[in-house]
Amino acid sequence: MEGILITFEGIDYSGKTTQAKKLFNYLKRKGHKAILLREPGGEKVSENVRQVLLSSGNTGMDPLTELLLYEAARAQLVSKVILPALRQGKLVICDRFYDSSLAYQGYGRGLDIKMIDYLNEVSVSGLKPDLTILIDIPIDVFSSRMRQNNKKKDRIEKEKIDFYKRVRDGYLKIARKEKKRFKVIDGSGEIEVVWDEVKNTVDYFLRG
Ligand code: TYD
Repeated sequence: MEGILITFEGIDYSGKTTQAKKLFNYLKRKGHKAILLREPGGEKVSENVRQVLLSSGNTGMDPLTELLLYEAARAQLVSKVILPALRQGKLVICDRFYDSSLAYQGYGRGLDIKMIDYLNEVSVSGLKPDLTILIDIPIDVFSSRMRQNNKKKDRIEKEKIDFYKRVRDGYLKIARKEKKRFKVIDGSGEIEVVWDEVKNTVDYFLRG
């Protein structure tokens, strides 16, 4: 494969989407043929599946249904957009990829990790990111950012915090298992401080 696939991972409020956009603009300025995608979404059918997944009306979604929808959106994005772009030698940046399913549906919701590993591999046809940047924030940073963002200042349910704690720990576990592919960056500082580290990581990686 000619191209390069860089993925961003992290729990909600980690700031990874901001960093993915900054990286995209930076690489474009440097003359790379870069594209920026997000999961779930990034393609017409996948964006439709995203609507089903994220619509607040769809309460009571079974965890397995949820997993299969994420995998469906992913299979579509990979076959229609990511693989063709990589074949053209493009640099693909993806805001979330299959590690999100492991972290959220596996470590978060408790579905079987081996089963998710298998479905992930099938949905991406064996493709692996060349580099995965995990923007990591401690749970107290997560809850204070969540509180700030919540205009109604609702009480944050303990269940939610516990869920994100499992997801975060899951991400760190995945990163430890695949040290070569992962770079863990502390996301609790200012945007520009985090960006400096993201930029240095990618510059170093591309110098290869
Ligand atoms: P989004 O609004 O894009 O949030 P973010 O900016 O944090 O990425 O919503 C994506 C949500 O979907 C997010 O809460 C994580 C979740 N998700 C999974 O649970 N499993 C997955 O495989 C993927 C790709 C996302």
